Amino acid sequence: MNICPFAYLCRMEQLLQQINQYTEEIKSLNINDAASLETYRIRFIGTKGILKNLFTEIKNVPPEKKKEFGLLLNEFKQLAEARYEEWKSTLDNGAGAASQIDITLPGDTLPLGSRHPISMMKNRIIEIFQRLGFAVAEGPEIEDDWHNFTALNLPEHHPARDMQDTFYIQQNPDWLLRTHTSNIQIRHMEKGKLPLRIICPGRVYRNETISARSHCFFHQLEGLYIDENVSFADLKQTLYYFVQEMYGGDIRIRFRPSYFPFTEPSAEMDINCQICHGKGCNVCKYSGWVEILGCGMVHPKVLENCGIDSNKYTGFAFGMGIERPAMLKYGINDIRLFSENDVRFLKQFISAI
Ligand code: DAH
Repeated sequence: MNICPFAYLCRMEQLLQQINQYTEEIKSLNINDAASLETYRIRFIGTKGILKNLFTEIKNVPPEKKKEFGLLLNEFKQLAEARYEEWKSTLDNGAGAASQIDITLPGDTLPLGSRHPISMMKNRIIEIFQRLGFAVAEGPEIEDDWHNFTALNLPEHHPARDMQDTFYIQQNPDWLLRTHTSNIQIRHMEKGKLPLRIICPGRVYRNETISARSHCFFHQLEGLYIDENVSFADLKQTLYYFVQEMYGGDIRIRFRPSYFPFTEPSAEMDINCQICHGKGCNVCKYSGWVEILGCGMVHPKVLENCGIDSNKYTGFAFGMGIERPAMLKYGINDIRLFSENDVRFLKQFISAI
């Protein structure tokens, strides 16, 4: 160790050495969190910090060395403060915080929405009919008696009205919740633009006891084609094309005579059971056939009710439920699941979008 002959010079040497050490230390430091920065501030530039102490030492420096010491100390002060400001602004801009985040950790996944199975089935059906030139048409769910019943050849006191238990609007008995999507037929035929080729999806309402198999609201899809020379053969071929596209090439259909007031002749169409393929199961009630829709040639009276000349124009119509085919396709055994909005049910369809 060097023995300094003059105490004050010796002190000066010590101070210079200290300043050098601190300078090196500050230069090699890398601060990237708020707590370390605060420790640094208190230690170097705080009111009881190293800088403050060094400045009080000026009085112990010999006069002829004061200038040199002062310059060095100022340089050190600038360095200490500049580093502090630099780290502080990086931390304030968030980069410091970000550097503490482990970006290799897996992120939180956002729950993904999914299409409702009814919408998926509806869109499938629409897409097939659109290929045949059918346009999508809609109509009101709150309907008047004329469009839901009378114009469809169901005059007041007609026994067929009892086929559909109706919800009436209390304030005005002429208003009701539509019992089928056939009201849309009327609304579009009344517009008088022919030919007309539409499919009409929508929600319908009936006053029925809610169970696993029936609900007080459900969905239908109606089809209508009006032009000159439209025949039952057109109806059969259109529907056959539809089921082939929907269920595949080996599908079979059969028509059974039926009754609807708005069509004449009327029929119900069955497909061979897609669950048991004829072996017999409880879906087809061991008959091998499942009914999927009602259809027929639009009754001349219905055309006339809408101002269409029934000598010039003919047309076919059909109506089908959406819930039943969706239940068959997705293996759903309770119709109530469609409207309960239970996420555990709905999220099963995410991959089926
Ligand atoms: N509207 C009928 C119902 O709700 C379904 C229907 C049958 C519609 C035959 C039609 C049709 O257009 O031609 O049960």
